[in-house]
Amino acid sequence: MSNHQTTSEKSPKKNLGTESDIVNLILEDHKSLKRLIKVMKDSEKHRLAERAEAFAEFAPLLVAHAKPEEQVLYIYMKQDEDLREGGFEGDVEHQLADQLVEEIMRTDDEDLWSARVKVLAELVEHHIEEEEEDLLPDFKKESEENERRFMGQKFLLLKTKLLEQGGLETPHESRILPRSEEKH
Ligand SMILES: [Fe+2]
Ligand SMILES: [Fe+2]
Repeated sequence: MSNHQTTSEKSPKKNLGTESDIVNLILEDHKSLKRLIKVMKDSEKHRLAERAEAFAEFAPLLVAHAKPEEQVLYIYMKQDEDLREGGFEGDVEHQLADQLVEEIMRTDDEDLWSARVKVLAELVEHHIEEEEEDLLPDFKKESEENERRFMGQKFLLLKTKLLEQGGLETPHESRILPRSEEKH
């Protein structure tokens, strides 16, 4: 990763440096997701209410991260012979996470809720690890920096759109806490 500043760009806009490289944008998102995962998966250390709060923050963030990742990065990967399988693997893991999020919304039993949130946290943690260790380095090898910056701009655009309209009003908002918590 180079910190090399390009002065050849026409516009001095903030996001045209390496920070708009899609890889860096993805890594930034992962930091926030990982912070919440830590709370969600540890039922010894964190009370249910705390974990529910973390989940409430996590669910829309996950959508706003995963959808642009699928629509910009995985699509690119699926068109490259060497990266294709990784792109599909990403899609499948996202689908599993989506399903779990939906199920968590519909879960009333506290222990079942807790178990599902834990599994979701572990699944996404593992997925993020794979992206950081394999998928992103492989993608970086096969792509050009200007492509990655262009993709980064698309990623940001989609993410902003999702955060503005879609991401926050998906089923996530309707049911965040297990029913017993909602009563208090
Ligand atoms: Fe992903
Ligand atoms: Fe990711």
